[in-house]
Formats: sequence, structure tokens, C-alpha cells
Amino acid sequence: VPDLSDRRLVPELMDTEPAPYEDFRTCLRHLAAANRASLAYRPTLAFLGRLTGRHPPRDGLRILDAGSGYGDMLRRIAAWGAGRGIALDLVGLDLNPWSARAAAEATPPGVPVRWVAADAFDPPADLFGGRPPDVVLSALFAHHLDDAGVVRFLRTMEGTARLGWFVNDLHRARVPHAALRAVFGVLPVHRFVRHDGPVSVARAFRPADWRRYLDEAGVADARVLRAFPYRLCVERIR
Ligand SMILES: C[S@@+](CC[C@H](N)C(=O)[O-])C[C@H]1O[C@@H](n2cnc3c(N)ncnc32)[C@H](O)[C@@H]1O
Repeated sequence: VPDLSDRRLVPELMDTEPAPYEDFRTCLRHLAAANRASLAYRPTLAFLGRLTGRHPPRDGLRILDAGSGYGDMLRRIAAWGAGRGIALDLVGLDLNPWSARAAAEATPPGVPVRWVAADAFDPPADLFGGRPPDVVLSALFAHHLDDAGVVRFLRTMEGTARLGWFVNDLHRARVPHAALRAVFGVLPVHRFVRHDGPVSVARAFRPADWRRYLDEAGVADARVLRAFPYRLCVERIR
């Protein structure tokens, strides 16, 4: 295991190596399977529970997922909303047009979600008919950014999300690094996932990183929280 005292910004193959569409889609499917196996949706759903507890969504909820990948988080959120009778307007934004295409293919008709290929830092103005999102979410997106990018992302969310925002990412620690290297080393996962899994942990965060970013972004009243296993999340509810 490398020295993880600071973030190690080793490039991820997912961001750097061009792949044909079907190949990239396999990578996203394997990432979604890893999300399911690692209980990745739970912290975000718990956040939505807290947010809707404080702000009961009488007129529904507009939610933006930055770096939405295969779209499994938003499909899970659609089921969460349907189960609670909450009208949702969901947008998954991803820089890679193949993410948007794969997410659209994987989404059954009737799910209230649109998939948009765009930069999370430069989204189309009319995503929600010119209205701001109520909530901005991301999962496994922040660690793709360098430190300045994370601060910029915090400012962007703080400036756009009407009710709150939530970052769901990884905790930079030896155990998950070694575990992902071991597990993805033996499972028949896509080569991007095998490489990018431990690299993502090394690129990820510790609580002190988030406190520094929040300070720099001028965001008060945000909470850094851990979620099992080895997720590190940041929550802001207005
Ligand atoms: C590791 S994947 C995470 C996908 C999904 N959120 C999940 O939890 O499985 C990171 C995603 O962020 C996207 N991404 C990277 N930079 C981006 C940017 N500036 N704007 C929007 N999406 C971006 C990548 O294309 C990729 O699909």
C-alpha cells in the first residue's frame, strides 16, 4: 500500500483511456455492481431522508446528480421517491457522452430522469426549465477533481442547490485500498475498475481535507460524515 498521508492524484483509466462504447458500458456496469455490493446508495438515501424531513417536498424535488455514470444512484432514488409519493424531477449529468447513453439504455420507461452529457462546472442553464435544482448530489465524482476543483465544486453546489447538497465519496485509508486491490485483482471486473478502484481510494479524502476545502470555499454549516464501509461524505442542508 502506498503512503496515503496525502492525496495521490494518479490518473484514472476511466478519465484518460479512450474505449469503444460497449467496453466503456461494461466498465460502468461493473462499477454499478460494486456500488450495490458496497452499500453505496445508503448514505445518499439517508441524506435525502434528513433533507425531506426538514423541507417536506410539497411540490416535488428537483435533483441533479453530477458525474452520474451508469445512473444507478438516480434509478435507486427514483424508487425511493416512488415509495414515498414524492414527485421527482431527476437529471444525471456526465461529461462522458457514453455515460449518458449507457444510463439512458439502462433506464426503464417512466422513470422521471433525463441524462445529459455536459460538464458539471458548465451545465446547460435550462436543466430544470430555468429553475435551480433543490438538491445537488454526487457519488465517486469529487475524487476525480484536484484540490482546487473540489473547492470550486463546493462553491458551485453552494451557489446552485436551493435546499442542500451531498457529496458521497471514499475515505482515503489503507484498508479499503488493500481490499479493493485484492478483490478487484481476483474478480473478473473490467480493467478500468481493477485499476481505478485502489487509485480512487488513493485520490480520495480524509475528514481534515474536507474541513480545509469547506473553509476555503467559505461554506459554513456543512457536516463531514463517515458511512460504512469506508465512505466519507459531506452534507449541507439549509
Ligand atoms: C467513478 S464515476 C462515478 C459514477 C457514479 N456516480 C457512481 O457512483 O458510480 C465518475 C464519473 O464522473 C464523470 N465526470 C468526470 N468529470 C466530470 C465533469 N467535469 N463533469 C461531469 N462529469 C464528470 C465521469 O465521466 C464518470 O462517469
